[in-house]
Amino acid sequence: MSDTANGTPRRVSILGSTGSIGKNTLDLIGRSPERYQVVALTANGNAEALAAQAKATRAEIAVVADEAAYGRLKEALAGSGIEAAAGPQAVCEAAARDADWVMAAIVGAAGLAPTLAAVERGATIALANKECLVCAGDLFMAEIRRAGATFLPVDSEHNAIFQVFDFEKKERIERIILTASGGPFRDWTREAMAKATPEQAVAHPNWSMGAKISVDSASMFNKGLEFIEAYHIFGIAPERIEILVHPQSVIHSMVGYVDGSVLAQLGSPDMRTPIAYCLAWPDRMVAPVPHLDFPKLGHMDFRAPDPDRFPAIRIVRETLRRGGVAPTAMNAANEVAVAGFLGRQIGFLDIPAVVEATIDDVMAGPLGNQAVDHLDAVMAVDGEARRIAAGHALAHAAAA
Ligand SMILES: NC(=O)c1ccc[n+]([C@@H]2O[C@H](COP(=O)([O-])OP(=O)(O)OC[C@H]3O[C@@H](n4cnc5c(N)ncnc54)[C@H](OP(=O)(O)O)[C@@H]3O)[C@@H](O)[C@H]2O)c1
Repeated sequence: MSDTANGTPRRVSILGSTGSIGKNTLDLIGRSPERYQVVALTANGNAEALAAQAKATRAEIAVVADEAAYGRLKEALAGSGIEAAAGPQAVCEAAARDADWVMAAIVGAAGLAPTLAAVERGATIALANKECLVCAGDLFMAEIRRAGATFLPVDSEHNAIFQVFDFEKKERIERIILTASGGPFRDWTREAMAKATPEQAVAHPNWSMGAKISVDSASMFNKGLEFIEAYHIFGIAPERIEILVHPQSVIHSMVGYVDGSVLAQLGSPDMRTPIAYCLAWPDRMVAPVPHLDFPKLGHMDFRAPDPDRFPAIRIVRETLRRGGVAPTAMNAANEVAVAGFLGRQIGFLDIPAVVEATIDDVMAGPLGNQAVDHLDAVMAVDGEARRIAAGHALAHAAAA
């Protein structure tokens, strides 16, 4: 990989550059512009913001997935010399351009095809888009190995584990402890959660993130998705992955060894730390994050997650146990349910109900035994699950 060690700027692309992770990545790149050459930036429909980013970084190409946004992108880039393109296929082609390092920060299963396009040419992949591993974990990790791509986890928990996980002595690892803030509804009753609004759900106490992951944090589906993500990245049996609520979000996760040692990575809850880790890897770089002030922090709290108020964790454990198409269906159903909640069609507690019913229906349906070992098969299950989940969401909306 070309990098700053020999004076050559690292060629980087960002899939989902207009989102929360994308903007944090560009913030870090903007602090050392001489070290990076931006190849491709992509968004969904946010053409104006994308064009401004492309101009500021002198990117080679800017791509919107939504074809309806192409005219606005083209107009905003007029005279800049930056290429403009649109459509899901164009996003994949941008991902396949010869960047050394690719940030995968599209939200949802929509990021799977473009991220695989970058994987297939053996790039270094910084993966924030956890849904890739949830909907197609076996396929994704197999492609990483086949293509000889380098995989770096961006999610703060997996980045923390990656930093303290001794891959050479994996058999000496007893457990992984995934920490969870508990989200904005950590201390709410189920009655209060039933009336929760989208505004309350996205108001995360510790992290500033996109809408979908914020709702996932509130339902704790986010921790469930991360459970599956950890299973695929670290190859640890599900029963050895624990979830621990830690409201301060200072310990980002831990690895327990057979001798009783527990190694942890700590830091302020700021995504620029794990992004910087991936951007500079295998080196480290300065990140403009508040440094931990332990006397001010004073104490750290821990508790077990409450399975009654947060059924997502049980649903996800069962989903992984069922295997096959279940994780793909669960991911798609959750995306549909979260969109329904954000659009005020269904209530907050309808989310797990829609997800569970969808998984059962998909598994009992014609695609229930389908092998999800190639992209088309994954997308077929994803599409079927979305159709079924939309029906369940409609039923909940009608009953409300
Ligand atoms: N935010 C965090 O702190 C955080 C932490 C850990 C992991 N993650 C993961 O990182 C991913 C991104 O999260 P985020 O919070 O950055 O999300 P976000 O703020 O909602 O940004 C999502 C990005 O994806 C683009 N996008 C949305 N739908 C698309 C589609 N159908 N095709 C192509 N591009 C599409 C958006 O473009 P537009 O702007 O045009 O809509 C935007 O650039 C998620 O998988 C999340 O779980 C995020």
